[in-house]
Amino acid sequence: MKIRKVVFPVGGLGTRFLPITRAIPKEMLGIIDKPLIHYAFEEAMAAGIEQFILVTRHGKNSIEDYFDYMFTHSRHFNIKMGSVCYVRQNEPRGLGHAVLCAKNLIGDEPFAVMSADDFILHDKSCIGEMIACYDGSNMAAVATVPREEVSKYGILDVESESGRLVVAKSVDEKPSVDAAKSTHAIVGRYLLSPKVFEVLINLKPGVGNEIQLTDALLEMIPSTGLTGFKFEGQRFDCGSKEGLLDAILHVACLDRSLKCVIENFRGN
Ligand code: G1P
Repeated sequence: MKIRKVVFPVGGLGTRFLPITRAIPKEMLGIIDKPLIHYAFEEAMAAGIEQFILVTRHGKNSIEDYFDYMFTHSRHFNIKMGSVCYVRQNEPRGLGHAVLCAKNLIGDEPFAVMSADDFILHDKSCIGEMIACYDGSNMAAVATVPREEVSKYGILDVESESGRLVVAKSVDEKPSVDAAKSTHAIVGRYLLSPKVFEVLINLKPGVGNEIQLTDALLEMIPSTGLTGFKFEGQRFDCGSKEGLLDAILHVACLDRSLKCVIENFRGN
């Protein structure tokens, strides 16, 4: 099924990176010479996505400036005029609320959602591989996480598994270690039915008093289904200092000249 549009929620506060995020959006933090949002954009482009919708807010103008730069170098980045648009999320009310802000720009077609701070290092586009398997049910990329980390994620309750696909019978946002039904955690790649907007618009705030996308996915399981996609490649939580540093080191190791710097550092 063709997916033409992606939503990038970039309105988060980035509190784990204070004080730098007072002036620089977390999506503009760099892995060597490219900001996180650029990697997410490349992954979406490689998947054949044509329309990029950024849900932004006050203080995030450098993201728009960066895309202006990409337009002025459009041949290099293969980006087309009119393919990027912006909508404001006036209050930080959670991922579900951010997705809802894009409702009028999505219309009535299935779409992708990608969190730039979930960086996936792989030679194939993760969202592209998900699109290749998409059958109309809501889909989220999943990774197995250590049990002590389940409270950071949406966690699936698994009905059945077949190859890279996991059919969920339930999903729980940030459960306690004891309550978690599995260690299959959602990471920031989703393919969603446009029916999600009808659910989000009526959703009560959940964990953290935020409108949670996970709660909408749970409500839609009986009608639309929810499939987890076990992706390949290495995922880094670049919303945390440890994850960002780990990603930088891994990317540097793929570059001969930078790898020398790491080896010299290790030798010291
Ligand atoms: C969000 C989602 C959560 C998901 C996570 C992946 O949480 O609510 O279900 O597992 O992204 O990164 P956040 O990290 O915004 O708290």
